[in-house]
Amino acid sequence: MSDNNDLFAATMAAIGFVPPALLDGNPGPEALRNADRTSRYWSSPHVGELHLGSPAHLREICRMFRETFNPYRPAVIAWPELTPDMLQRVTSLPIWDIAVHTEGRARLRFASYAANLKSAEVRDALMLNAWEEHRHKEVLSKLVKAYGITLGPEPAYQVPRDPEWMYLVTGYSECIDSFFAFGLFELARRSGFFPVELVETFEPVMQEECRHILLFANLVAGQRASLSWWRRIVFELRVTAAWFYIAWERLVLARSMKANGMGTGQDSNFTMTSAQAVTSIEIGFRDLMTLCLQENDRRFSGYDARLVRPKAIPALAKIALFLTRPWAKKRRGDTEPLETAGGRGSSTQL
Ligand SMILES: [Fe+2]
Ligand SMILES: [Fe+2]
Repeated sequence: MSDNNDLFAATMAAIGFVPPALLDGNPGPEALRNADRTSRYWSSPHVGELHLGSPAHLREICRMFRETFNPYRPAVIAWPELTPDMLQRVTSLPIWDIAVHTEGRARLRFASYAANLKSAEVRDALMLNAWEEHRHKEVLSKLVKAYGITLGPEPAYQVPRDPEWMYLVTGYSECIDSFFAFGLFELARRSGFFPVELVETFEPVMQEECRHILLFANLVAGQRASLSWWRRIVFELRVTAAWFYIAWERLVLARSMKANGMGTGQDSNFTMTSAQAVTSIEIGFRDLMTLCLQENDRRFSGYDARLVRPKAIPALAKIALFLTRPWAKKRRGDTEPLETAGGRGSSTQL
């Protein structure tokens, strides 16, 4: 495990990246609230349009990432005490190993891509992104320790041979995972299935993933806009291949989970299985997709509207909702859990 951490530390050192300063040992609630607010709301001082791929666009997207950094410190998180029931729910969630491995891989992939970039500004933004993935891993390691969750052995993370390819695969994977995680997280918050203090502990992590995919969507859009037509074709082929690769990876993961008695062996059903693991309320596919879309919009709403948002997964969710309209009618008259379960509407919790 330490070898894995060493590899990431070595990549950081080779680039000369210095980890950012964090909040002091015991920040008060006001300092935490301010840090949270800073991470959610950001407007560029740039006047006029931000043309994709222009120096101003690149500069501002990197500035957004820098200025919305949340300096929380994983080591001081006070893990709430859980009732035996809640502890059982937390420890039996089938996500901890996958979550730790995903963060461990992502940090090295982002760092390796960053190391090869010419633009110091973009390199620093992506290194900070990588460092935040490392911090997510640290948060998870503190959680599993606090609640006595046993993890399997960690794989040996590899420095990618083709950093751009792995950057695309990791970035698009985050776009998928974050979209569903936003909805599942809100579902967990509303359900009261877990203590609110525990859910809130992960709030900065969730918002960070939102910033990560905002950065990714803008860097990819900027790259697209600045390529010559033939380079653009090559790039689009790579992007398409990345989506196929992700689909294949998820199929393999779903099959292995099915073999281990987790989920049903289908990725969409894995999301539904996860929904049932975070709430006692019965929730249908359409309700969950609606919640994911609402949360996706809410989390991005505080950032400058001139920055592009990830579009593919929300668009697919909208298509799925459109195609399943006949089933919506069947639900009318039933309890509508999402509309009555204490949603926070469009406001935030600040
Ligand atoms: Fe992460
Ligand atoms: Fe991320």
